[in-house]
Amino acid sequence: MNVAVLLAAGSGTRLDQNKAKQFLEINGKELFLYALDAFHASKNIDKIVLVTRNEDIKHIKSLTKGHTKILDVIKGGSTRELSVKNAIDYLKDVCQKDDVVLIHDAARPLINERIINDNIYFVEKYGAAVTAIKATDSILMGNEIVDKELDRGVIWQAQTPQSFKFDLLTKAFEQFDEHLTDDVGVVLNIGIHPHIVLGDKNNFKVTTIDDLIRLKFLL
Ligand code: CTP
Ligand code: MG
Repeated sequence: MNVAVLLAAGSGTRLDQNKAKQFLEINGKELFLYALDAFHASKNIDKIVLVTRNEDIKHIKSLTKGHTKILDVIKGGSTRELSVKNAIDYLKDVCQKDDVVLIHDAARPLINERIINDNIYFVEKYGAAVTAIKATDSILMGNEIVDKELDRGVIWQAQTPQSFKFDLLTKAFEQFDEHLTDDVGVVLNIGIHPHIVLGDKNNFKVTTIDDLIRLKFLL
């Protein structure tokens, strides 16, 4: 079974609108529904778990009555990784050890079927996968003055989905530490090196107002 976890429990402080970004209406449709619809339409996705703030659970449920693949809408945590942890705890009663879990930011609306399928393919083959795109700018390291220039041929920007066999994910989250900010960090922490799935520059995360303008333009 392939399960998508959609993270929508943030509060969108950097975008600074009157509601969390996942609920902003973009071209007549709330932002989180774009990613949800993409996963729901994928024939390789069997089930979906949505994670959101407690006060938004009812709202999401009311908008997603027709989405038959949704297992449940559950409460998130105070950080992204604590939201993921809640989803893993929920899935303990649902998943077998070999099931594939794809963790995706609901704030990345333009996820596509190719990326979803490549994540599943790599997890089946290697156990762990992360979507990423190659850095296009030169990458400098330093603080006020340049210490060194990194070889951008080996620098990647992580996106989501970040995807794992369920047993590996549960094992990694047993060693979970509050400083780790994404799922790749959590599995690297136990010595697992995910395979890179080529992402897409359009699979960006809506973070600032510029991203919102870009999204509206692309749609
Ligand atoms: N997320 C989550 N639970 C949290 C924090 C974030 O599920 N406690 C989700 C967000 O809803 C988003 C994704 O993780 O889909 C990526 O997080 P980010 O872009 O940082 O979203 P926000 O935390 O909402 O934004 P900001 O950091 O600007 O407040
Ligand atoms: Mg955040």
